[in-house]
Amino acid sequence: MNRKIAFFDAKPYDQKSFAEINRDYGFEISYFDAKLNEQTCNLAAGHAGVCAFVNDDINARVVESLFQNGVEIIGLRCAGYNNVDFKAAFEKIHVVRVPAYSPYAVAEHAVAMMLTLNRKTHKAYLRTREGNFSINGLLGFDMFGKTAGIIGTGKIARCLIAILKGFGMKILAYDPHPDQSWAESFGLRYVALAELYSASDIVSLHCPLTPDTTHLINRTAIEMMKPGVMIINTGRGKLIDTVALIDGLKSGRIGSAGLDVYEEESDYFFEDKSTELIADDVLARLLTFPNVLVTSHQAFFTGEALRNIAETTLTNFREYFAGGYLANEICYRCNRSCIKKEGKRCF
Ligand code: NAI
Repeated sequence: MNRKIAFFDAKPYDQKSFAEINRDYGFEISYFDAKLNEQTCNLAAGHAGVCAFVNDDINARVVESLFQNGVEIIGLRCAGYNNVDFKAAFEKIHVVRVPAYSPYAVAEHAVAMMLTLNRKTHKAYLRTREGNFSINGLLGFDMFGKTAGIIGTGKIARCLIAILKGFGMKILAYDPHPDQSWAESFGLRYVALAELYSASDIVSLHCPLTPDTTHLINRTAIEMMKPGVMIINTGRGKLIDTVALIDGLKSGRIGSAGLDVYEEESDYFFEDKSTELIADDVLARLLTFPNVLVTSHQAFFTGEALRNIAETTLTNFREYFAGGYLANEICYRCNRSCIKKEGKRCF
């Protein structure tokens, strides 16, 4: 039986964590540096499984080519799945993912960004190393008593809220599927987006990227926000209209922004581009602001998360090859819930 897996966008840290965990699974894994897209999908020929990541482009043409090449299953080694054409994959290729690997990692990174932007430790670090011990321009604010507006209240947001409550912050939340009993037990309120925008000192994004949430943070949303608001995005780049964000930063309406994700990140993030020019003018402009912190989609990047990602991904493949129920399958028809109830494969 073919149990070969083509692993795309393989970085040294991926290979290390997967090689370690794969000792208990015994899959034959081919690691490819290339991202999965229309130009590279033929590399998967001869493999029954494909392992893909956040910036792989699994559109209808890629799905068809993988299918023609004999691929039966795509194992996303991430939680988000906005980069897959599920309609094209349905009844051809199973798609599984890692629904949770460490919500703490992402939540803690969001807090790291908040504290950095607030207390300007990114600037202080550089100053003191150059013998500049002035604190002019480094004025911050107490987190205690401020209001955080959290959009999306799933696994990551709940970890984040627990940390922010520890600072003594007030929390406002928005989610189209509110969990009122959890909110009550945490002493926080669900509000409409307009109220969240107008009352929050920090707005942090923790919802998935869907047609509804694309450019959720646009000009209209920014105009409703408190002057000087801090915006944190560890969700997906396209949740924010970056050009509108830049205008908000230029006008001073937005006080600061922490971005772990960016709309057009796939050409840059995870890669060393330090010897090249940045051709993306929007990204280049973002990087000029002293009050913008860009990290390269690293919020998930802890040892614990990498181990959990490898473990769950390889378990997903093992479930498939053993012919069993796929606990972490997502498909066009069920949109991740019906298979859970029926306890069987989607097709
Ligand atoms: P989750 O599925 O546990 O929670 C998502 C929440 O968003 C749910 O409560 C859902 O009801 C809510 N939601 C859905 N549509 C919404 C809308 N239109 N407006 C507001 N809320 C909405 O997901 P989890 O694990 O908390 O992850 C959230 C997102 O974080 C993922 O979708 C992914 O895009 C991103 N992520 C980023 C990582 C990074 O390294 N930067 C790592 C892992 C996830």
